[in-house]
Amino acid sequence: MARVALVTGGIGGIGTAICMELQARGFKVVAGYYPPEQEQAEAWQKKHADEGHEFEIASGDVSSFEESQKMVQDIEARVGPVDVLINCAGITRDKTFRKMEPSHWKAVMTTNLDSLFNVTRQVVDGMTERGWGRIINISSVNGQRGQFGQTNYSAAKAGAHGFTMALAQEVARKGVTVNTISPGYIATEMTEAIAEEVKQQIISTIPMSRMGTPDEVAYLVGILSDDRAAYITGANYEVNGGLFMSF
Ligand code: CAA
Repeated sequence: MARVALVTGGIGGIGTAICMELQARGFKVVAGYYPPEQEQAEAWQKKHADEGHEFEIASGDVSSFEESQKMVQDIEARVGPVDVLINCAGITRDKTFRKMEPSHWKAVMTTNLDSLFNVTRQVVDGMTERGWGRIINISSVNGQRGQFGQTNYSAAKAGAHGFTMALAQEVARKGVTVNTISPGYIATEMTEAIAEEVKQQIISTIPMSRMGTPDEVAYLVGILSDDRAAYITGANYEVNGGLFMSF
């Protein structure tokens, strides 16, 4: 039986590439989507089915614990227990701090950080009971180094790796690994929203002088989801064209 992978934010730019990668590696893939985006999700599913890629889709607002619980229960009933969880759902509400409203702060913290608790909590017991699991949290270079206009996003994304390191220790003996991937600037709808002038300025600071592709992130997700990645846990991997280097 194929293992089941849930990709939250699965119909987004990076999420879609991750779905494709995991499917190519033999997983049964479920793309989670934000309930108001049902139409887009159905169109996404149909487009991929027409191209020969069968994906399941599952509705759930990951900023809510109850909604996340319902989403995972639905997946378990329709597809099976989740063996691989990719926490990829995320949003931006960029504002300089002095212009940031509580709503901007809260939207980003609940969607990008609370979601890690909300969704992971639903699947972790099953993974430890079965003695195998892979949890990968998609963070950001801006969680590692901070970014002008992103106090909310940088805080949430830095928090994601703290979550990774703590949970990795708790489940290490049970065959479950927990890792973080920190992409740099990847060409998706999210980065398209950055003003062109600001974007060009950012690209000029990237050693590779270009943005990354979603597939360049998905490749690493595939590797970390593999059986052979069993000894890698609590780690953070950068996919950023050299924009930020650390060890
Ligand atoms: N460093 C220092 N000063 C800067 C600056 C920077 N990077 N950028 C702007 N400023 C200065 C301006 O020169 C201006 O100065 P003056 O007031 O002296 O003229 C001032 O800051 C502008 O401040 P405002 O509050 O008016 O800012 P704004 O409304 O013009 O723009 C912003 C704010 C929309 C957040 C804009 O800075 C921006 O888009 N920044 C980029 C944010 C970004 O990189 N987002 C990434 C989104 S993609 C993503 O998040 C994916 C991922 O993981 C990488």
